[in-house]
Amino acid sequence: MKKVGFVGWRGMVGSVLMQRMQQERDFAQIEAHFYSTSSAGGPGPVIEGQATPALKDATSIDALRAMDVIVTCQGGDYTKAIYPQLRSSGWDGYWIDAASALRMEDDAVIVLDPVNRDVIDAALAKGVKNYIGGNCTNSILLMGVGGLFREGLVEWVSSMTYQAASGGGANHMRELLRGMGVVNAAVADELATPASAILDIDRKVAAAIRDDVPTEYFGAPLAGGLIPWIDAQLPNGQSKEEWKGRAEVNKILGKRGDAMIPVDGLCVRVGAMRCHSLALTIKLTRDLPLDEIEAIIRSGNDWVKWVPNERALTVQELTPAVITGSLQIGVGRVRKLELGAGYLSAFVIGDQLLWGAAEPLRRMLRILLG
Ligand code: HSE
Repeated sequence: MKKVGFVGWRGMVGSVLMQRMQQERDFAQIEAHFYSTSSAGGPGPVIEGQATPALKDATSIDALRAMDVIVTCQGGDYTKAIYPQLRSSGWDGYWIDAASALRMEDDAVIVLDPVNRDVIDAALAKGVKNYIGGNCTNSILLMGVGGLFREGLVEWVSSMTYQAASGGGANHMRELLRGMGVVNAAVADELATPASAILDIDRKVAAAIRDDVPTEYFGAPLAGGLIPWIDAQLPNGQSKEEWKGRAEVNKILGKRGDAMIPVDGLCVRVGAMRCHSLALTIKLTRDLPLDEIEAIIRSGNDWVKWVPNERALTVQELTPAVITGSLQIGVGRVRKLELGAGYLSAFVIGDQLLWGAAEPLRRMLRILLG
């Protein structure tokens, strides 16, 4: 059995990974070792009723070197600090990482096997050892409309996103919920009184959002609002999250140079908990009837949940309330835009902790196990 070391398994993405691995009985296929940056020597977790060995030191190169595979959800700072030392020590194992630190390196593949299994297999055959999870938004985009990319139908994509609090982390989710409570508390009495004037309620809500909703993690009030910027500012006016669109989608697909497909748009944080959504404008390389487009999108992978472009079905099926916690990727609002021939709209929604983070890593591990 392969020795697989887990780092960062107690954090949010790591915990989702642990849940999914237990659901899929992955631990039965490996010899699992758990690492910690803070409590080495402490008891390991109990997995499916079985105790695991004591926690190993996640900062000890010697302790890490004993593994065939390391799976880390510890974050980019850990990767930057540990990974180069580990490789310099001569370690030749597989490194599976949720963080973005190594994503764009030439000796790394961004993993999303329902979309790029061919790229992964070619890399494995060449001896590539680094397999990195993609940015959540782009993984969800490709899980949703990967069929159109596979068929060479995408000339370019404008991707306008509605990204959940979980993309920032656990503290961001808590801040959103605290903010929702602050807004509600500001008008709880008035809400309990049907006769109270809505504009008075609105005035109090606006003041609470401006002055009282916590902003420590997001830097601006998210509850009752949105924030039209995610991640660092780049010199060209893009946010780093927006930059990742073209860079990562093309890397996932194995496209370089002139073959790269333009992907760009605005990334916006909204008050959803863990579902990222994208409103896409897709310029097709050739116009096709809608029924053929539907068949191609549906054929993308087993997790596409096609929602016909009808009001009742859309509001019932294509929302965070329905998609949260599920591996399904909702795809709907697909119609020809009245912008000219070959302009298509689509709305894609997925749980960013599952396909956006943990699931591609879990599946990469399974691929390595053969
Ligand atoms: N950067 C993403 C976000 C999350 O902030 O929503 C991870 O890909």
